[in-house]
Amino acid sequence: MNTPADSVQQSYQSLYDNFDSPLMSQLRLEAYGEDIGQHSWVTAEDLRCDAGRLRLTQAARLLDLGCGPCGPLTFLMKTTGCSGIGFDSSGAALSVGRRRAQSQCLDDRLTVCETDLDSALPVATGMVDAAMALDVILHLRDRLRTFTEIARVLGESGRFLFTDAAVVTGAISSEEVAIRSMHGFTQFCAPGFNERTLEQAGLTLLETEDRTYGMLSNANGRMEARLRHQAECEQLEGAQGFARYQGYLESIVSLSRRGALSRVMYLVQVRAR
Ligand SMILES: C[S@@+](CC[C@H](N)C(=O)[O-])C[C@H]1O[C@@H](n2cnc3c(N)ncnc32)[C@H](O)[C@@H]1O
Repeated sequence: MNTPADSVQQSYQSLYDNFDSPLMSQLRLEAYGEDIGQHSWVTAEDLRCDAGRLRLTQAARLLDLGCGPCGPLTFLMKTTGCSGIGFDSSGAALSVGRRRAQSQCLDDRLTVCETDLDSALPVATGMVDAAMALDVILHLRDRLRTFTEIARVLGESGRFLFTDAAVVTGAISSEEVAIRSMHGFTQFCAPGFNERTLEQAGLTLLETEDRTYGMLSNANGRMEARLRHQAECEQLEGAQGFARYQGYLESIVSLSRRGALSRVMYLVQVRAR
């Protein structure tokens, strides 16, 4: 039987099969300005600031929930010297991640594991110093359960940073909801919901930041880069697949531009036990 994680996984699978091809790397370079192997709205610039927010040092163990092909995780490992643990339901993404870590001589500090984040985390209590989830929480079923699990695996004063690209801050049509959910199960939430749920899970909110503008410019950048390489993209995706993905990006641009859907960064710290 197909589980919800399976449907998300199938959608990401086709993207990950060609993730590090010259074409995909070129598209990321053109869209983001710096290709770090991300498959989200995050940029290298965001991560350089977030490394400080997460207080990453050489001694730190960083857990990346929904790490995808480990681009942001290996970027932070390289810039801070920390060790990394990456969980994702996509085996294809983790294979790309392993190769990325090997090519950057980071493999002795990286552990990846195929995991469904809707289940308990396969990590002992208090074992990690910091955790992040970049544009992943929106795919999970039960945030309170997920945040409670994160609080459990964080050590004393451990920090968790995540981005939610589906905070509803305006009017959204049913068509737009369907397009925005093209990767599979997607949960949209009202402002304040994440804040309340984090508190309930034993995590104290330290900071939030509206990162909608970055999502808008990255979606625009991706759309334009793909148009410049349309023939090559269509060879991979087919004409219909190309048009569908462009429609997805167009919808993100429209939703962000009119402030209907926001992308927000949350930084929290585990409460003293
Ligand atoms: C938008 S991508 C973000 C990837 C990565 N964080 C990045 O910034 O490049 C979302 C990721 O979440 C993973 N994912 C979605 N639902 C999941 C689940 N239930 N369990 C584990 N991973 C999941 C997908 O496989 C995908 O790699």
